Amino acid sequence: PITPSASAPHVVITAGPTREALDPVRYLSNHSSGKMGYALAAEAAAQGARVTLISGPVNLPTPQGVERLNVETAVQMHTAALELAPQAALFIGCAAVADYRAANAAEHKLKKTDDQDTLTLTLVKNPDIIADVAALPDGQRPFVVGFAAETQDIERYAQDKLARKGLDMIVANDVSQQGLGFGSDDNAALLLWRTSDGSDRLVAPPQPKTQLAALIVRHALTHLSLTSSG
Ligand code: PMT
Repeated sequence: PITPSASAPHVVITAGPTREALDPVRYLSNHSSGKMGYALAAEAAAQGARVTLISGPVNLPTPQGVERLNVETAVQMHTAALELAPQAALFIGCAAVADYRAANAAEHKLKKTDDQDTLTLTLVKNPDIIADVAALPDGQRPFVVGFAAETQDIERYAQDKLARKGLDMIVANDVSQQGLGFGSDDNAALLLWRTSDGSDRLVAPPQPKTQLAALIVRHALTHLSLTSSG
């Protein structure tokens, strides 16, 4: 195992889904397996970084040399991220965070009734974790890399997220493609990052998530060193 040196950059990565309770036995979530985020964590550790992985509920072993913090909800992930990010050099938000949670999770199991064929749930917006990390003041703000899970107009929506969330780089993946994205071992992506006169891009064709993770981490660490050396 590689032991990070004292001067190694601290990398904080979110991975997996979040789970938002509706009642004690039901929740809202999504199909994120954590594979992409865990591959990023493994790769960052292999490249010599000190890595903290903030993980939603997944069935994956912790990569060697990685410190793992388990969370369940978006609010818990937000708290952990905002606590760790100000000391980090690089933050990668790969988690598929639920945008909404139940306004009032029921204390007891919701009952089906004979007279109601529909059930209306009231949801409230979750905090935007990566936007809040990107809004940290200078001196506390890491280099921020987000993901964009899209099913159409990939580049336009990703550019919009890059700007709207104040990110430095975004990894856009088309999650409508069979065998790529959620749950699979492979992924493809469009990397977009800001430059002094706009933005630049790199197309990463379908490949194992482990391989794509190496490319993303290498790119992010290069941009980070360029940024921090002025
Ligand atoms: O886990 P796998 O099965 O390997 O699948 C990988 C993946 C498809 C989940 C991953 O590659 C991916 O795309 N992750 C981001 C999923 C997502 O929620 O994308 P988004 O476009 O909704 O969010 C954009 C960015 O904002 C992401 O960096 C997300 O982490 C972040 N976000 C979103 C909502 C929120 N409340 N807080 C956030 O920080």
